[in-house]
Amino acid sequence: MKVLLVDDETDLVEIMEFLIQTTFNAEVVVEKANSGNEAIKLLSQDKIDLCICDHNMPNGMGSDVLKYIIEKNLQTKFVLCSTVVPKEKPQEYPAAHVYFNIQKPDVGGGLAKLKSKLDSEVKVSAVDSEVYIPISLYVLELMGRAPADIYLRVSENHYVKVLKGDEVFTADDKMKYSRKPLEMLFLKRGEQQELIDRQIALALQKIMEKKDLPLSDKLSIAHAQLVELIKFTGINPEVAELSKKNIQQSVNFISKAPLIADFWRGLSLIGEYPSKLYTLHSMLTSVVVRKIVWNSEATQFKLSLSAFLQDISLDSISLMELCDYQEFLANEDRFSRAEIRRFNEHPQKSVELLSHFKDIPADIDRILIEQHEMPNGEGFPKKLNALQIGALSGVFILTGILARHVLRDGSSFELKDFIKKMEGKGYSKGNFQEAFEIIKAMK
Ligand SMILES: [Fe+2]
Repeated sequence: MKVLLVDDETDLVEIMEFLIQTTFNAEVVVEKANSGNEAIKLLSQDKIDLCICDHNMPNGMGSDVLKYIIEKNLQTKFVLCSTVVPKEKPQEYPAAHVYFNIQKPDVGGGLAKLKSKLDSEVKVSAVDSEVYIPISLYVLELMGRAPADIYLRVSENHYVKVLKGDEVFTADDKMKYSRKPLEMLFLKRGEQQELIDRQIALALQKIMEKKDLPLSDKLSIAHAQLVELIKFTGINPEVAELSKKNIQQSVNFISKAPLIADFWRGLSLIGEYPSKLYTLHSMLTSVVVRKIVWNSEATQFKLSLSAFLQDISLDSISLMELCDYQEFLANEDRFSRAEIRRFNEHPQKSVELLSHFKDIPADIDRILIEQHEMPNGEGFPKKLNALQIGALSGVFILTGILARHVLRDGSSFELKDFIKKMEGKGYSKGNFQEAFEIIKAMK
């Protein structure tokens, strides 16, 4: 199968090539292009089975590539790999001609889904599972560590292990190997898959952070990568430390971002629901906290880490979307027994996960356990009222409900309707009051 990768971000193309070679269970030949026009040239010269293409590129857009494929009646399957979704641009990306969509930033997950779609539809020639896959020095350098044991090919059928999985790949290593012929470093297919996945997640994060992205996109991308990592490895001290560092860094960024006036303008939300929610919720807590006297980065860190952990044990988006406990009770019959149990346990589960984090400020456990309390004392699990919940919990709960409303309503969101609804439910009183007044004054 011949695959054409098209993206102006060359590092991303390198990583995607590596991902395809390690995960696609077929003889794959990869060609690469850094612009739409370059891709069109390759399509005109060669029979390409699959074209994985970015949308926004300086010299020829993704839509130009698809237009060429349609006009020339090529059999090439077109996959859009972008933050743009085809259904947002039906003129440029007619559904009948788009084989699949990979939504950035989750390139790793998207490629895995694409692979299973291809496996179910296309007859692919399987290869020996014991095969050695070449890894370029460039990809190793991007990763900074060996994603698995690395072998040096010394003769046709003879390989020697030169680096252990997870070992640091130094500049000296690069120097040493760059003097040798190309394609002499390999890893074994199917070996240490978890480690490979983890290193890839980190490398993708690095690449994405390099791009000149709006703050909200950076936060969403980092969140998506961390959640992917947690899914692979579970929370352990290493992952907790990485998450903590990333949230600390995000808070540094957020605290320097402009306040309310520019807030909505700079906001683009990409990725899957939990990442969007985390990003918007964190940014909204910052807007509120910076207006309140006890503003500090430590406070923002508490709220951002809480936003990160609040629903991490839930795997159903419809549970994450619920604004408060009342809404959960009203919709309970929509959920399975397992989902109901998970929802009832999730504040406590978040607190348990928090115990893996070292050297963190106090109060976060309180925010997490109180995340679904309500002003009238009808929330859960403690049935606290507006005066009994913590001051930070008040900010966290109200900004969380606001973020969920904004994501649910999109462009039809009206602040004045939201304020009226919240006031009616008592969210303007007690420890909700301060945050309520600030949100009410938002433009
Ligand atoms: Fe929750």
